[in-house]
Amino acid sequence: MCGIVGYAGWRDAESVLVEGLRALEYRGYDSYGLAILSDGAVSVVKDAGRISDYRTGGTIYSGTVGIGHTRWATHGVPSAINAHPHTDCTGNFAIVHNGIIENYSALRSELAAAGHVFASETDSEVIAHLFEACYDGDMMAALRQVTGRLEGSYAVLVIAAQEGVIAAARNRSPLVIGVGDGEVVCASDLVPVIPYTREVIFLEDGDCAVVSKDALWIENGGDVVTRAPEFIAYDPESAKKTGFAHYMIKEIFEEPEAFSRTLNAMQDTEEMQRVMEGAARVTVVASGTSYHAGMIFRYLMEEFSTIPVRTEIASEFRYVRPSPDEVVLVISQSGETADALAALRRAKFHRCRTVALTNTLGSSITREADHVFYTMAGPEISVAATKSFIAQLAALMKMVSLSRGASCSLLLADVKQAIEAVLQLEMIRATDLCAGASTLIAIGRGVFYPVALEGALKMKEISYIHAEGYAGGELKHGPIALLSGETPVIAFVPPGETRTLMIGNLKEIASRQAPIIAFADPDDVDVADIAEVVIPVRHRNVFADVAAYTVAAQMLSYEVAKKLGRDIDKPRNLAKSVTVE
Ligand code: F6R
Repeated sequence: MCGIVGYAGWRDAESVLVEGLRALEYRGYDSYGLAILSDGAVSVVKDAGRISDYRTGGTIYSGTVGIGHTRWATHGVPSAINAHPHTDCTGNFAIVHNGIIENYSALRSELAAAGHVFASETDSEVIAHLFEACYDGDMMAALRQVTGRLEGSYAVLVIAAQEGVIAAARNRSPLVIGVGDGEVVCASDLVPVIPYTREVIFLEDGDCAVVSKDALWIENGGDVVTRAPEFIAYDPESAKKTGFAHYMIKEIFEEPEAFSRTLNAMQDTEEMQRVMEGAARVTVVASGTSYHAGMIFRYLMEEFSTIPVRTEIASEFRYVRPSPDEVVLVISQSGETADALAALRRAKFHRCRTVALTNTLGSSITREADHVFYTMAGPEISVAATKSFIAQLAALMKMVSLSRGASCSLLLADVKQAIEAVLQLEMIRATDLCAGASTLIAIGRGVFYPVALEGALKMKEISYIHAEGYAGGELKHGPIALLSGETPVIAFVPPGETRTLMIGNLKEIASRQAPIIAFADPDDVDVADIAEVVIPVRHRNVFADVAAYTVAAQMLSYEVAKKLGRDIDKPRNLAKSVTVE
């Protein structure tokens, strides 16, 4: 979490930093700040709130070297004092940091005993004071010493009044350096860099760098290293809202393309076939929405292949012991989720073969996994995962079709059309019912159980309505006590093996007067008889239905959040890249 950006070059640093922070806001948005070098001094401005509240020109001195930060609070409440950049006692050093300094408490006591005065409650401020203590006219020497004292994760940028450079260091938090013509842009991800250059260096763990507009020096473990810039093909237009009210709905409308792009990219994946053929067992590890994609994978594998699959929530994987004959598949759209990374490392420690599935080129999990596959969702700006989930489904469905004994590749052909059909749905009645409720329950069975979980997750994160997903059969084991006329139930009732028992569940719900919003085939008269509202999703096959029902549920969440006037693309307390465990 937290986004950092730095600029050294010939442009007005304030404008570059502000634009960069806007692009990084998905990583955190409770406070922001900038520091700029100006006539041998460091000028700082920071505040609680969002970078969109900041007006350029006049507040901060102008200059061509600076750093910026948008925060997702971990240590200390969101406030102007706790916002980055943090400075040392002299005001000569300013730092921005993404990550967690685990030994900050000991460092803080040591520095305070030596006379340093701390302003904030953050772990990050120790870095500024350490710089003050270690700097002796050489930025790289100071950076080496400072990072030698830090334990934990960090992507850090530092400027010093005495220098026209940016010092940068990375350990377990992403940091890229874009190398342009007489300018460099450092950032947590590619998006702020791309408007200036496509030549990008991905720093590695342990890297310390000192960069200026025309020079670049990288060390790792005290040795100078050469890292050649990679050329990034990327369409900046795809990260714009282009006429849609929110990124989320724009990204939902991009789902048919995200699905088929990902599928095409997997077309000749011999590597994937080898991995899936050789696996005795697959363990999927992921968080949140990506975990739900993993659950869907499990059900489809159970149906179409002979390879057993289990799923683990990434943050719980540290408590289980994998065996070396399993393939551990880590799914993470950002590729930076700390829980997923920790799980990947644990799997490697236990000598499992590891596979990463991510949407983010050069992200941390891609450097550590044995095999890497990319989803082709393109940039996803809205915090809620939508098209990245559908792209994950494309890759995972392809994996199913390549698995031992599977013969289901034909089913993939219908998915794109099924998603396109859903985009035309109208949901006014269902939206009104949900928006008026304070609790919602979502149910499904079999592979539609994770669809229900994902529907509930999407609903709660963007509408703030309490929503829980359950397996249809679990309702009677407790949650049924919640049902009343005020508790709408969202039910996923496709034709197929789960339908009969789901209809039984609907009857139980209806007898408790709870209004039912059913996602079902338009010709299903039994469902129409019981449900208050039917959202019609034409049945095709299980692959197409899973994708279509999920997209329909995403759209319902979007409509409800819109009706309630929520901050859809940046829901409270969330961040898109969750880099704390
Ligand atoms: C929900 C959402 C989160 C993420 C979760 C994992 O819309 O976005 O639940 O799915 O934080 O993130 P990744 O996939 O980046 O590891």
